[in-house]
Amino acid sequence: MATVLITGASSGIGKAFAELFAKQNYRIILASRSESKLSHLATELQRQHGVQTLTTPVDLAQSDGPRLLHERLQGQSIDILINNAGIGSFGFLHELDVQSEQEMLQLNVQSLSQLLMLFLPEMVRRGSGRILNVGSTTSFYACPLSANYSASKAFVLSLTEAVANELQGTGVTVTALCPGATGTEFFRKAKMDGQKVSDPKALMSPDKVAQIGYTALMRGKVFVVPGVQNWLLTQAPRLFPRKFVTRITRSVLERKM
Ligand SMILES: NC(=O)c1ccc[n+]([C@@H]2O[C@H](COP(=O)([O-])OP(=O)(O)OC[C@H]3O[C@@H](n4cnc5c(N)ncnc54)[C@H](OP(=O)(O)O)[C@@H]3O)[C@@H](O)[C@H]2O)c1
Repeated sequence: MATVLITGASSGIGKAFAELFAKQNYRIILASRSESKLSHLATELQRQHGVQTLTTPVDLAQSDGPRLLHERLQGQSIDILINNAGIGSFGFLHELDVQSEQEMLQLNVQSLSQLLMLFLPEMVRRGSGRILNVGSTTSFYACPLSANYSASKAFVLSLTEAVANELQGTGVTVTALCPGATGTEFFRKAKMDGQKVSDPKALMSPDKVAQIGYTALMRGKVFVVPGVQNWLLTQAPRLFPRKFVTRITRSVLERKM
């Protein structure tokens, strides 16, 4: 039975991935901070799909989080890594809390890269494996009012594209999933729930995002942007001057509901 490790599995897109892999009869390892949410999800997946699950609570915004997670999973053969845990933030950079922003970067950038580097060598040795890194449509352009966040997601896409090229011929693939606004707890946690961008009517469901990510992952695509409208957004920097695109993204983020 193949094993998938999902970070940020307790809610949103990560939880949707867990449900998707459970339907495909994978053995599922669920990682995030909240032990109770992970245990509840694990019990549900076992009950509904009869799959094997393992929960491993970990704070991936701590610098030793990825190493701890990797150590705990020694001896387990990980076939698929869903590198999904991430958070956002909202506000002018000069007004944001330095510590919270650094924690976000630790999680979205350092931790994602470290997990990739920790789990990749064994996959390459084995000659098989798949990794999905969760980026964003903001991987493609700068976002004023989410400056560190959009820069962190640009890192995810750049890293994925470079490593995907390096991995050619190894039997291992890496894919970036770059969703647009999705109906999860993301906006509330990032204090963006009064903004137009988080209008429930405009949000894609996490199930749909996960399904599109799953298909791209299994096909070994380098990246995927769910939804035509989101894809068009990501093409803007190719079609218009970058400064203009940055001005537009700011005006979109500033709009109130
Ligand atoms: N929602 C969107 O509009 C959107 C758009 C583009 C990209 N994304 C990306 O999608 C990914 C998933 O986000 P989501 O939308 O599903 O949001 P979410 O519902 O808030 O889920 C975030 C997940 O990350 C986990 N997490 C947060 N901090 C963590 C930490 N320090 N250590 C370990 N796990 C941590 C959370 O679990 P715990 O709280 O239990 O730790 C949770 O399971 C993120 O990378 C996000 O940047 C989201």
